[in-house]
Amino acid sequence: MKRILVTGATGTVGRQVVSQLLAADARVRALSRNPDAAGLPPGVEVVRGDLTVPADLDGCLDGVDTVFLAWTAPAALGQPALVTSTVEEITGKPARMFRDWAADHAEEFRA
Ligand SMILES: NC(=O)c1ccc[n+]([C@@H]2O[C@H](COP(=O)([O-])OP(=O)(O)OC[C@H]3O[C@@H](n4cnc5c(N)ncnc54)[C@H](OP(=O)(O)O)[C@@H]3O)[C@@H](O)[C@H]2O)c1
Repeated sequence: MKRILVTGATGTVGRQVVSQLLAADARVRALSRNPDAAGLPPGVEVVRGDLTVPADLDGCLDGVDTVFLAWTAPAALGQPALVTSTVEEITGKPARMFRDWAADHAEEFRA
């Protein structure tokens, strides 16, 4: 069965994502800087990792097919270079700013 890594899993958005994935019988791995305080439902595999430390993510990604990336850290730290390097680490693809992606795909979302 496929496994999905959810970042920001202990936050407002991530908890909803985890809950809905569990309801869909997905295997969920959750990233948290403090797994002991995660308070996620049974069945969720909680792993320790910090998005500001890309090397932390290596083990977290083992056996993972998909990543739900709720990104929070860089906004707090104001380090865009860190965002791009970590996204590339996670996805294997170069990161793009959302505004660039949105400009290229705007037509697809127009009613
Ligand atoms: N909430 C909303 O209504 C809403 C609406 C639109 C957009 N957004 C955006 O969605 C994103 C998530 O929002 P949220 O409200 O769910 O956030 P939140 O409740 O403040 O939760 C923050 C999450 O980010 C994780 N996190 C923070 N720093 C981290 C780091 N350095 N490494 C790894 N994980 C880190 C925390 O995990 P640990 O503390 O367990 O490590 C926690 O799970 C944000 O970018 C926000 O701007 C939110």
